[in-house]
Amino acid sequence: MGTDRIERFKRERELLNKIVMKYAGLTTKRFYSLDGQAYRPGALPARIKELLGLVASLVLRCDDCVSYHLIRCHEEKVTSQELEEALAVGLVVGGSITIPHLRRAMRTWDELQQASTSVAPLPAHYAALLRTVATIAEWPYERDRRLQAVCNLLKEQVPYYDWVGFYLAEGENMLVLGPFAGEPTEHVRIPFGKGVCGQAAAQRKTVVVQDVAKEQNYLACSLQVKSEIVVPLLRDGLVLGELDIDSHTPAAFSEADQRFLEEVCRVLLPLWD
Ligand code: SME
Repeated sequence: MGTDRIERFKRERELLNKIVMKYAGLTTKRFYSLDGQAYRPGALPARIKELLGLVASLVLRCDDCVSYHLIRCHEEKVTSQELEEALAVGLVVGGSITIPHLRRAMRTWDELQQASTSVAPLPAHYAALLRTVATIAEWPYERDRRLQAVCNLLKEQVPYYDWVGFYLAEGENMLVLGPFAGEPTEHVRIPFGKGVCGQAAAQRKTVVVQDVAKEQNYLACSLQVKSEIVVPLLRDGLVLGELDIDSHTPAAFSEADQRFLEEVCRVLLPLWD
């Protein structure tokens, strides 16, 4: 029930942002990009910035802003105690008039906590593949060789993963093709924001496209591709690269695929140490 409310909130926010972007002029676009930039990790890590945004939103009594920052805090692995201390600062600064907003904030946080403890375990074949990825991650070879082995493994072991590749971030605005398994692609450099890969990098979250024919911001590699998933490799909100998978099967990627591939990316993060 609670998770539904959060999922609805996320979907509505995404939809409304798309509509805003349809009409946005330069000022609006620049403001949006500034907003994204303010929360990128710098001297302060992403999780602290999210807590600051949360406190400011509580004091200003914007429930939507509070919900958004709670979701981001949850993604950034903020603990309940850290969250309570931050909200307490907001309460003291904003006074008792923020209490109704504090109540709703705690309900959302509680739902986020419950959702993360009630997630079903990964299907067995994914769990086994994940263990192999973890072994490959520890091989004493250079990063690209290990990423290549992961591409080969995923492409060979999952029948509907028809192209598996990594894009590596160059600076904060460009993706460069790294190791891949499948047909060569002409898209070797993709700016953030462009195509499905660029969207995942700009939004710093997984993007699943179940029907590429319906996606306007899409860079075609082959006419055979019907669906795609792109999972960013993130550290403290910074994009290090991404895992991109194309499928010749329509709507190939389930919620279990998404969770599995997000775990694969998490296991591979130490390769960027
Ligand atoms: N389809 C991607 C381009 C990369 S290929 O899938 C390998 C996109 O729209 O970004």
